[in-house]
Amino acid sequence: MAGMGGLGTPIVQAVLHDPGLRLTGVASRSRAGMPLTAALGAGSGAEAVRGSGIELRISADTETALRAGADVLVDVTTPRAGIAHATAALDQGVNVLLAATSAGTESSLGALEALARTRGKALAWVPNLSLTCALLERSLAGAAPWADRVELIDHAGPHVHAPLHTTASLAGICRAAGLPTEVRSIREGGRYSAVRAVLHRGAESLELQHATPDSEAYVTGALHAVRQLPGRNGLLRGMTWAL
Ligand SMILES: NC(=O)c1ccc[n+]([C@@H]2O[C@H](COP(=O)([O-])OP(=O)(O)OC[C@H]3O[C@@H](n4cnc5c(N)ncnc54)[C@H](OP(=O)(O)O)[C@@H]3O)[C@@H](O)[C@H]2O)c1
Repeated sequence: MAGMGGLGTPIVQAVLHDPGLRLTGVASRSRAGMPLTAALGAGSGAEAVRGSGIELRISADTETALRAGADVLVDVTTPRAGIAHATAALDQGVNVLLAATSAGTESSLGALEALARTRGKALAWVPNLSLTCALLERSLAGAAPWADRVELIDHAGPHVHAPLHTTASLAGICRAAGLPTEVRSIREGGRYSAVRAVLHRGAESLELQHATPDSEAYVTGALHAVRQLPGRNGLLRGMTWAL
């Protein structure tokens, strides 16, 4: 794990509670050197790691955390740091799940894809880890050839960038399919975030909505992707590959 912030911490806790996954290392600059049990507190599941005889200490950097060996690096830091961590991991033959949400990541993907292929490993860039978002994307791609036009409407808090990265990405898929696409963003109170697609065909319409009330969906999706990643090769974009 690289990153133990708002998203990284619940992913670490979920991995500790998942009998099919094993946490081999965690990197966080601000908590470097701390035992994981001390960082997470009692009842976090970190005791189980200690109970198995391993006193897992948080590393100062991702390269050090990777030395313990891993099948997958999950990066939930920043877009820029994530690229550096992904390069280091792929270089060591470790698959990568890159969760950072930034259009800037796009320009680094070519070099990372080449590295992943050389090492026979996979890099998954998943700007939205929600499985229902992946289902929306797949449904939209399937329905697009049947529609005359589509409206994409996203809802988020007042200070959230508009449109959401997810909405822009879905709009790209619809436009690539030749579908006239209108994007609207509604910004109002609360952390609630949702993307709605309304497909029009003559007098008929089909409405699909994906909503994430909190980060739980991203945690569940991250663990699902981690399980699916070993054995894949090259660059995987988004989450539909894991469905
Ligand atoms: N794909 C998705 O579905 C999804 C969903 C939500 C968020 N995200 C993305 O996930 C990332 C993390 O989100 P968050 O809410 O957890 O953010 P956060 O609370 O700010 O945590 C980010 C963590 O990254 C570490 N970090 C920051 N700069 C770093 C650097 N230069 N090198 C190494 N580590 C660094 C920080 O830890 P230290 O300072 O201790 O190292 C911090 O704990 C963001 O890029 C966000 O956009 C993706």
